[in-house]
Amino acid sequence: MTETLTIALSKGRILKDTLPLLAYAGVTPIDDPDTSRKLILDTNQADIKLLVIRASDVPTYVEYGAAQIGVAGKDVLLEHDGTGLYEPVDLKIAVCKIMVAAENGKSIDQPRIRVATKYVKTARRYFASKEQQAEIIKLYGSMELAPIAGLADCIVDLVDTGNTLKANGLSPVEHIADISSRLVVNKAAMKIRHEQIKQFIRQIETAVAKKK
Ligand code: ATP
Ligand code: PRP
Repeated sequence: MTETLTIALSKGRILKDTLPLLAYAGVTPIDDPDTSRKLILDTNQADIKLLVIRASDVPTYVEYGAAQIGVAGKDVLLEHDGTGLYEPVDLKIAVCKIMVAAENGKSIDQPRIRVATKYVKTARRYFASKEQQAEIIKLYGSMELAPIAGLADCIVDLVDTGNTLKANGLSPVEHIADISSRLVVNKAAMKIRHEQIKQFIRQIETAVAKKK
């Protein structure tokens, strides 16, 4: 019998888009992840279990080997410190962009700006790369409020349709990175359980290609 493969999934938006890919790859949870209160879900494959956790915790579970495989947004991976992860497949789900946004008509072209974001490392790296001094203010949500309330000159946040920015009188001003969800794999597990993990990766790659 093969060793159990534990897959850490981001709950919320990503989970909704991940389940069809897993189904294409032949893996379906036995309990309904939307209604079950269980945090470890059994699947139709006895040797595959799913952990359903907060998006920002996925890289940690995989890096420490509590899960061998995970699904996480590139935005979360850009914020994660650590070197224990491979990122072998772009799942092409939860696609959006990480952008700088400011109040309509306002320029951020000033020598020193205040930036509100939950993406502190990404924002710091971005403004450092363009040699603009930025004071980064950490927020945990509703970033769009910060410029309107006078907390910051701009925000760094995810943008998809642009509706949230628009509804709050903000416009995107600079593009930082394209975001989508990625399959991540624990580096040690990839070595030790190469065949099992490679086979799963191949199935997911086929699922991504089929879905296109
Ligand atoms: P947490 O529970 O850790 O606070 P969250 O509330 O940000 O996470 P979601 O809103 O479900 O959780 O977002 C999870 C992921 O989905 C993000 O990390 C990002 O990769 C992707 N995502 C978020 N917003 C969008 C969007 N508008 N369009 C496409 N993908 C998005
Ligand atoms: C995300 C993100 C933006 C919004 C962008 O929020 O934080 O606020 O989507 O999408 P749009 O450009 O299509 O409007 P989400 O809807 O996930 O809410 P939350 O993260 O605040 O829970």
